[in-house]
Amino acid sequence: MCGIVGYIGEKKSTDVLLDGLSKLEYRGYDSAGVAVLSGDKMEIRKKKGRLKVLGDDLIKMPIEGGMGIGHTRWATHGAPSDENAHPHATASGDIAVVHNGIIENYMKLKDYLGTKGYTFVSQTDTEVIAHLIDHYYEGSLYEAVQEAMKRLEGSYALAVISKKDPDELIAVRKDSPLIIGLGEGENFIASDIPAILAYTRNVYLLNDDEVARVRKDGVDVFDKYGIPVQHDIFKVDWDVEAAEKGGYQHFMIKEIHEEPKALKDTLSPRITKEGEIDLKNLDISHRKIKNIQKIVIVACGTAYHAGLVAKYAFEEKLRIPVEIDIASEYRYRNPIVGPDDLYIIISQSGETADTMAAMRMAKKEGAQILAITNVVGSTLSREADYVMYTWAGPEIAVASTKAYTTQLLCLYLLMLEFGKVRGAIDELDYAAYITELKAIPAKAAEIITEDSIKQIMKSAHKHCTVEDTYFLGRNLDYAVALEGSLKLKEISYIHSEAFPAGELKHGPIALIEDNTLVITIATQERLFEKTVSNIKEVKARGAYVLAITTEKADLIRDLADEIILVPETMNIFMPILSVIPTQLFAYYCSVERGIDVDKPRNLAKSVTVE
Ligand code: AGP
Repeated sequence: MCGIVGYIGEKKSTDVLLDGLSKLEYRGYDSAGVAVLSGDKMEIRKKKGRLKVLGDDLIKMPIEGGMGIGHTRWATHGAPSDENAHPHATASGDIAVVHNGIIENYMKLKDYLGTKGYTFVSQTDTEVIAHLIDHYYEGSLYEAVQEAMKRLEGSYALAVISKKDPDELIAVRKDSPLIIGLGEGENFIASDIPAILAYTRNVYLLNDDEVARVRKDGVDVFDKYGIPVQHDIFKVDWDVEAAEKGGYQHFMIKEIHEEPKALKDTLSPRITKEGEIDLKNLDISHRKIKNIQKIVIVACGTAYHAGLVAKYAFEEKLRIPVEIDIASEYRYRNPIVGPDDLYIIISQSGETADTMAAMRMAKKEGAQILAITNVVGSTLSREADYVMYTWAGPEIAVASTKAYTTQLLCLYLLMLEFGKVRGAIDELDYAAYITELKAIPAKAAEIITEDSIKQIMKSAHKHCTVEDTYFLGRNLDYAVALEGSLKLKEISYIHSEAFPAGELKHGPIALIEDNTLVITIATQERLFEKTVSNIKEVKARGAYVLAITTEKADLIRDLADEIILVPETMNIFMPILSVIPTQLFAYYCSVERGIDVDKPRNLAKSVTVE
């Protein structure tokens, strides 16, 4: 969701800005723009559409200059258009701003600035920021930005430049991610690491309410009171290739292929030679684990679906009550937080606005927060009491895949550790679970072999023109059905819904007619018979049933019109494996339909606004 890049140095800034913005394309956007200080002029170029439109324009009419800011915009206030694209500038063109987030009191500020003679040319909330900074400008851009921040309500990451202050870029972070890349004789600003990784691995991760003065030869960071803040340099330990397609057609398929490795990387360092789980990095005491009265899981989208798997698994194996909520719902109810409740907050990005708000709300009520996130240094990782990383490597495609399966793995590790400490899982079972978990990465790899992929491609080719699809499952299979359905709708635009199979007769069965595609997830042995009944019910109404199941499910295999087999593992761990065919099916449907798989319409990778 919106991307910011800023550069100050000796290079041609538009090259760095375009290159950086191209690495942020995954975040989702509908227009792009740059502002560059070129001699004593501020040059602004912005275009609706893909970055290429802006790039082509800059080839035709290049802008020289070593200091600039760039932006990819995901529209919130005002439709995608050249006018609404960032940067936004003052009428004089002295000050230019790019912004991620939402200014909640922008109407009030707009009225106020109107009384001071400012006029507006866009429908955005961002334009008020440029005017507000101008309003407070008395010779120092940094001071004007600090003053303006006192009036701004909402979430924002900003990069600001001014003609009158040609030696520095100002960067601000409040509830929206922003990092500073540290170079030699040059420095960078960006929403995310991939944007600057080609130039430097040394990064400052700004905290909320911090303002950075970024010059060619150095960076100074201040808090909102103007007091200097010291930052440790964060060294990025992954390579530029990890954020590139590496020969694959799309990031999504590359990331599906990376799942076995991501699972291994997440698991192996946490299993000792003796076969014990080592969560030392988590630093949660046994006393705390023993005292947990209730677990509350809060997340959005795919991360929520991982949480739902955990609810079934934890309640069954740990006998601890587990509540689960979608973050955007949690934050507007009036939850009761007990002193011994443990909150598990799951977020790939660690920046999702609703999830962060829910986490802060729970924290304020005294909850202990355990974060599961993929992004080291993310807001979630910094504000939680305990952090467990999914070591999946950067996930670029909008559709989350390897983050989901590694989130599941982290949740299973917690289940086993908590079960052992609380005496809910005995030693023999514990050892058996760990042996099986260690086999999971290899089993995941079996689903991504050439033959399995060919079968799924064929199936996608056959079904990609359907208008509606329904996913069915019970218990853990229902949680996977929800995830499979989300994946399919977000990247193929096929209407898809998931139902608990037992709920069919209470309404959804009315939707089934001749050739309706019903995808049934059936991996839970004790529920096979129930699922068989549901398959019979939909088939009796003409449905075409595609079952994702295991060798053991003979009856289901006989009944279904088409089957995709997944390797056997313990029932409790099946979601890690059974979800992979749904990811592949969604991917190949998307490819067949000619959709831009990694950047599906209207979606953003990291949803940093409410
Ligand atoms: C997944 O495919 C989605 N694009 C989306 O649902 C995502 O999982 C959700 O926005 C939460 O993101 P987070 O994990 O970064 O918080």
